Amino acid sequence: MSAPRPVAVVVLAAGSGTRMRSKTMKVLHPVCGRSMIGHVLTAALHVEPEHLVAVVGHGREQVGPHILEQVPDALLAVQETQDGTGHAVRVAIDTLRAAAGTTEGVVVVMSGDTPLMRGETLSDLVGDHAQAGRAVTVLTAEVPEPSGYGRVLRDGTGAVTAIVEEKDATPEQAAVREINSSIYAFDGSFLADAVARISNDNAKGEYYLTDVVSIAHGDGHAVGAFRVDDVVQTEGANDRAQLAGLAAELNRRILDRWMRDGVTVVDPTTTWVDSDVTLEADVTLLPGVQLLGTTVVAEDAVIGPDCTLKDVEVGRGAHVVRSHGELAVIGAGASVGPFSYLRPGTELGAGGKIGGFVETKNARIGDGAKVPHLSYIGDAEIGEGTNIGAGTIVANYDGQAKHRTTVGRHARTGSNNTFVAPVEIGDGAATGGGTVVREDVPPGALAVSAGPQRVIEGWTERRRPGTAMAEAARAAREDGRDDSSHTEPSELAHDGDAEGQSP
Ligand code: UD1
Ligand code: CA
Repeated sequence: MSAPRPVAVVVLAAGSGTRMRSKTMKVLHPVCGRSMIGHVLTAALHVEPEHLVAVVGHGREQVGPHILEQVPDALLAVQETQDGTGHAVRVAIDTLRAAAGTTEGVVVVMSGDTPLMRGETLSDLVGDHAQAGRAVTVLTAEVPEPSGYGRVLRDGTGAVTAIVEEKDATPEQAAVREINSSIYAFDGSFLADAVARISNDNAKGEYYLTDVVSIAHGDGHAVGAFRVDDVVQTEGANDRAQLAGLAAELNRRILDRWMRDGVTVVDPTTTWVDSDVTLEADVTLLPGVQLLGTTVVAEDAVIGPDCTLKDVEVGRGAHVVRSHGELAVIGAGASVGPFSYLRPGTELGAGGKIGGFVETKNARIGDGAKVPHLSYIGDAEIGEGTNIGAGTIVANYDGQAKHRTTVGRHARTGSNNTFVAPVEIGDGAATGGGTVVREDVPPGALAVSAGPQRVIEGWTERRRPGTAMAEAARAAREDGRDDSSHTEPSELAHDGDAEGQSP
């Protein structure tokens, strides 16, 4: 079916969505990383309408800008009072006529709260509608549990005659299981005429768009239904339980697609991947992974278990284990975690490492450079091949302003260092364990700041008499195990860790 280009898609988003019980407007609630209306707009753009008209009302100061962000040339039609879906379309038609000078052509109408509707399905609807030359084509679905939806009524020949809302339905009508999805293709000229003729003589006292169907039938126009088997595409989220149900289903569909494209998802029930995430073949996602926003993962990378990455770029073959990252770049073959926290502006080079209990922010860590243990690295640049000792803190904040720290290439810094920014440590330089680096260290130099160790003999027995500590000291002395030769005062406290080795 080749679908003609509609003159407009009208998206209804003026309702308050009271059943959500939220200060956030219903259509702005997110589903897999995009607002509900964001999904609807994506589907709407798929049919390439000449105009996109969004009807806004309730919360329009939130909803309007959100729509324009995604579709800058959308026409916003303001419905001052929410008098029903028919009234909303009347407002949209007025806006369309003012902007386009015409309502001729196909007009698609859809709600802002059906996030799983696909653009391809809309194209099929428009194609079917145009081919059959109807005034109205309603997108319908046969559901096991139709309550809450408008029911599609047909005559003895199977022709669609009307849609009746649940509150206005007789028991026989309510038993019908073919429901109105609230998505339609219309002949625009007919629609413009018909919405002006709707009355509000019904249970809710509203102008129902659904009445246009019986008007078309009464006028002798062709009316039809385009039924979709994939019912979930027609489902609207009116409350948070439905929202969670639709999100879970969309997530399943997203994962299915990635698995067909060669991604291993070990446990789809605990893996969440947003709509705008990109994965390459042979990526492996272990249980408990959330990939959010515009995260991109290159081939052979392994993520998880238990990671949350938002707007993160993960390079080929990298491993990320039990970690949290946001707006960060992880280089090819790099390793992150377990228990790392990558804050915005972190860039880890190829083959680099950010290890356990390390927090980074606004930090460039070069190729092959390592921050393996228990550190905070913020507002810093670490050169390639450099190793940062365990327990290193970059003191980037002096209480008033943030300052930068630079460590050169192939440097080796000792454990438990503090780099007091702004400070620079040169290429191939070293620092001793426990060093507080307050001044620049030239390339190739060793910096130490810990003083020689002092030993005061017999302190415990003199100052802590009668304690278990003193008793242990006494026993050791009497055993002769205290040969009282203490270690030579050393400039360098020992590192205590092979990877944080000081010279
Ligand atoms: C509507 C249909 C029903 C269909 C169901 C599918 C009518 C009368 N009923 O019912 O047949 O089965 O959708 O989900 O059309 N809106 C406005 N202005 C208004 C009222 C609503 O813009 O004055 C918008 C809402 O923001 C929403 C959409 O129209 O996006 C549908 O409104 P909603 O109240 O959800 O209609 P339903 O009761 O679900
Ligand atoms: Ca609805």
